[in-house]
Amino acid sequence: RSDRYLEYNGLPLPTVSHSEASLKYFETFQVQDDDTFAITYPKSGTTWMQEILPLILNGGDLTPVQTIPNWDRVPWLEETRAALVMDKIPAPRTMVSHMPYHLMPASFFSSKAKVIYVTRNPKDVVVSSFYFHQMASFLDDPGSFDEFVDKFLAGQVLFGKWTDHVKSWRNTDMKERILHITYEEMVQDLQGAVQCISQFLGRELSAETLEHVANHCCFKNMKKNSMSNYSLVPQDIMDSKKSPFLRKGTAGDWKNHFSPVLEAKFTSAIREDMKGTNIELYWDD
Ligand code: PPS
Repeated sequence: RSDRYLEYNGLPLPTVSHSEASLKYFETFQVQDDDTFAITYPKSGTTWMQEILPLILNGGDLTPVQTIPNWDRVPWLEETRAALVMDKIPAPRTMVSHMPYHLMPASFFSSKAKVIYVTRNPKDVVVSSFYFHQMASFLDDPGSFDEFVDKFLAGQVLFGKWTDHVKSWRNTDMKERILHITYEEMVQDLQGAVQCISQFLGRELSAETLEHVANHCCFKNMKKNSMSNYSLVPQDIMDSKKSPFLRKGTAGDWKNHFSPVLEAKFTSAIREDMKGTNIELYWDD
């Protein structure tokens, strides 16, 4: 096995940002009732939420998103930086995590902390991840697209199987503590999505502020924000010439990558994994 990954409860995690110590920190973290988590399977809208949440909680003030890199502003709780920056995060804290539900810290389950779970069409997730593996030197080369899709379906990728992640967060225990939102809804109506999230967090914004926030978080503007576009990361770690981190920002790019045969195989594998659940595969017309 490549030393680029460690295995945590059967999930491959990148050693560039995860360690035994960071995972211990994660497991014993004391979640507060006013904490908010954005939970995502990788490449589903994490960076987008790291922009939206501070804007909502600061009433549209751009200072945090223009002065603090996204990974320190809304840190990943399971990553090594969390222990270094968490003390500096003002309450109410916002964090991101790629963890499945059952691996959350013990204190999470007894808290009232809220979760915003972003789901993205897995066909676009695998495309986004494929390019990410090409540009990030800390990840294994993805091989051909078809080979990478096979690894994705087998769960031999960061944070394991997409279907396991989605299923874990569609449990009935979370009740009103969780807001489910899709990447595609955000692409289609960003202002509506921001409004929905702000209501969920009890931070209703004026129409003017909503517009201001949505304008700042659109793909074109976020791509220009050096605190959010990963341009602060050295090129030998993330090579934006191979593929920028904020790459395309659209729904449906999978159509440019999947052959009809591969698409049929992919869809039937996802459907098979989702059998027996009432989870709607909303992108399948
Ligand atoms: S990671 O590595 O898990 O943190 O990646 P993540 O941020 O979850 O996913 C990256 C994809 O999200 C897209 N993105 C956006 N799309 C639309 N609008 C905005 N503002 C935005 N910000 C990030 C990003 O471009 C990646 O998708 P692709 O399809 O590769 O462009």
